[in-house]
Amino acid sequence: MAESIKAPRGVRDILPDESWKWAYVLKMARKVAEDFGYEEVHLPIFEHTELFCRGIGDTTDVVEKEMYTFEDRGNRSLTLRPEATASMVRAYLEHGMNKDARQPAKLWCAGPMFRYERPQKGRYRQFWQLDFEAIGVQDPLVDVEIIHLSLELYRRLGMTNLEVVINSVGCPACRPKYREALQNFLEPLLPDLCETCQGRYDRNPLRILDCKRPECKEKTEGAPSIFDSLCQECREHFDTVRQGLEAIGARYTLDKRLVRGLDYYTKTAYEVLSGDLGAQNAVCGGGRYDHLAEAIGGPFVPGVGFAAGVERIVLTMEQQGRSLGEPPRVDIAVIPLEPSLRVEAMGLLASLRKAGIAASMDYAGKTMKSQLKTASQEGIQAVCILGGDEVAQGVGGVKNLRTGEQENVPLQEIPSYLAKMLQE
Ligand code: HAM
Repeated sequence: MAESIKAPRGVRDILPDESWKWAYVLKMARKVAEDFGYEEVHLPIFEHTELFCRGIGDTTDVVEKEMYTFEDRGNRSLTLRPEATASMVRAYLEHGMNKDARQPAKLWCAGPMFRYERPQKGRYRQFWQLDFEAIGVQDPLVDVEIIHLSLELYRRLGMTNLEVVINSVGCPACRPKYREALQNFLEPLLPDLCETCQGRYDRNPLRILDCKRPECKEKTEGAPSIFDSLCQECREHFDTVRQGLEAIGARYTLDKRLVRGLDYYTKTAYEVLSGDLGAQNAVCGGGRYDHLAEAIGGPFVPGVGFAAGVERIVLTMEQQGRSLGEPPRVDIAVIPLEPSLRVEAMGLLASLRKAGIAASMDYAGKTMKSQLKTASQEGIQAVCILGGDEVAQGVGGVKNLRTGEQENVPLQEIPSYLAKMLQE
């Protein structure tokens, strides 16, 4: 026999015992989006590879090592999206949203992202993000709104033990000077840093500060921070962000080493870390990206946003014993007592469903006893028993499994009878 095919490494099936938890998180996200005035969009899963190379940055880990890139039958290079921000800005420009009177465009989307990373708890090769973007204005208070939105989502989900870390990563005016200062600091240390850090020295020295190896971390401890080299404009922007965060009562830590893994960030960068996740502890990350639109061939269009990993939200909530709603349940089971009544039962099922009552019947040939047992195990509220004599008289037996009471009810009246019973 041929070996059975398994899912590829790093991807997960979200099965019925978990999918309802996801639905709960998505429902909450949708509600928060509405309350903050963000409109939902659905974006393509794949884009031209160029979008990510230019948008995210050629020297980032995501673009260098983690993209799922392929050629389609028309010899175009396409890539499964590793994130949604570049696509969101592309869509904003492509549909002329910059010409709308309403700015910023406040958009959000949810869906799978793909990165070829080493799988571990909370890190997958296909994972879901909730992505929120406010595109079109430079106002630092929009940064505050974005951070607030993420925190409000976590608050409504009941998540605790979270830490907000923020930084400013500067802008094209202040970064070159900083880059030079950082390179001067790093140069004598290079032989002692890991290969990845050495490789980053010329191409993207800021990323060296994000190396997770303890040896590199220790060596670069005294590195100058971008924060201390900010230009006047970036400094003022950051001050307003801090004042805004204070105004909304958000507690945060300033982490001058926070640089984030994507190159498009300017000014504000932030992450929310969960104390219950282990190594992959960021439940969301985001920041401002004022030059992303230009990098992908558009005009100057500032923007700010964040993305939250759905798997990490669910993991954190489970770890903290938070409610994720309830699994959906069928209320009524229809049980025909004879095979000849199965078709009749199908008709009754249809009228129940038409009345908005969640109902099902057995198709696997189980005995009545076993159907009743399953019904009570699955939390069914009542069963409709169709017997030959009763059906001939135009009635069916309705048994309330909560009270044990049973009554014969005219077949046409069963839906309204049950609707009333379920409300009691
Ligand atoms: P990111 O930090 O790369 O940012 O990802 C955002 C979040 O997605 C992370 O904090 C984490 O919760 C989740 N995540 C990332 N990679 C994985 C993975 N391999 N497995 C599971 N979860 C993961 C971005 O993607 C930016 N586009 C965020 C943004 C939006 N910046 C501005 N606007």
